[in-house]
Amino acid sequence: MKGQAMHTIESVIKRIAEQFHEADIAFAHGTDNAVDEAAYLVFGALNLDHDNAAEAYQMNVNELNVDIIDKLVEQRIKTKLPVAYLINQAWFAGLQFFVDQRVLIPRSPIAELINNQFNPWLDINSKQYVLDLGTGSGCIAIAMAAHFPNMKVDAIDYSQAALEVAAMNIQRHHLSERVRLIESDFFKKLANNKAQYQYDLIISNPPYVDKDEISMMSSEFHHEPLIGLASGDDGLDAVNVIIKESSDYLSKDGVLIVEVGNSQWALEEKYPNLPFIWIEFEMGGNGVFLLTKEDLDHHNETS
Ligand SMILES: C[S@@+](CC[C@H](N)C(=O)[O-])C[C@H]1O[C@@H](n2cnc3c(N)ncnc32)[C@H](O)[C@@H]1O
Repeated sequence: MKGQAMHTIESVIKRIAEQFHEADIAFAHGTDNAVDEAAYLVFGALNLDHDNAAEAYQMNVNELNVDIIDKLVEQRIKTKLPVAYLINQAWFAGLQFFVDQRVLIPRSPIAELINNQFNPWLDINSKQYVLDLGTGSGCIAIAMAAHFPNMKVDAIDYSQAALEVAAMNIQRHHLSERVRLIESDFFKKLANNKAQYQYDLIISNPPYVDKDEISMMSSEFHHEPLIGLASGDDGLDAVNVIIKESSDYLSKDGVLIVEVGNSQWALEEKYPNLPFIWIEFEMGGNGVFLLTKEDLDHHNETS
């Protein structure tokens, strides 16, 4: 089929999109359709510039590169490994991150908040000290520091393997002066020195998938670290700790922002008196709440 035929990036993407369309694969890690998934793979495999996509689409692809791409496509379909792991590349808030199976693939709607400077939910310029709890690849911590040059960000994770990847990404984005990694089981490492760890904003995309949903996830998700997804029977194990302990680490006007996805309903049922503000997204995504230190203090005093 290949012979001496000319292949352009556009024709290769079109052909792969058809293969993806026919295949039994899930689009859940950065794209939601076969064409975007094919473009993600081809651009990543050939290191093409997304900013010059129109130009790139007309470029020719030699046989060697067609073979490389076809092998990745075969792997994607056979093993269900997400494209991000095949090309070791993911995008978040306009920035590129190295990813492998040590970390969850970045896809949080929190990227939209960062891109929109947290408008209209928060005066982000008043937030200087930030904690990213459960940093994984470091995507949220790094994107925050990159978008807000006065910010200092601490980034916690319990997984040493994830922190190795986060360290690579901090180096890649030249942010080691303002993003600090801490290996800790949630707040445990900070507990003996609370006065030193006071944040204007705690932001977190913790694990929040409940037991039933874990058992129903498509194969793609099973390539991701379980510690990044599973959070007990009702999906609330992690957020329970965050709600209970965050206030100790928030400064006077501090704010907590946490993603809980579909566990929103279980959370609201469990904490009927907490005045969650549920953030709305234009680009898709749901289940991200905002609470103030005041809300949390009031809750802790009365419960
Ligand atoms: C849903 S992933 C989010 C990763 C990254 N922030 C993102 O948005 O792509 C949750 C992260 O929390 C970390 N984590 C799970 N349990 C933890 C704990 N007890 N203490 C600290 N981090 C934890 C996982 O290792 C994982 O990196």
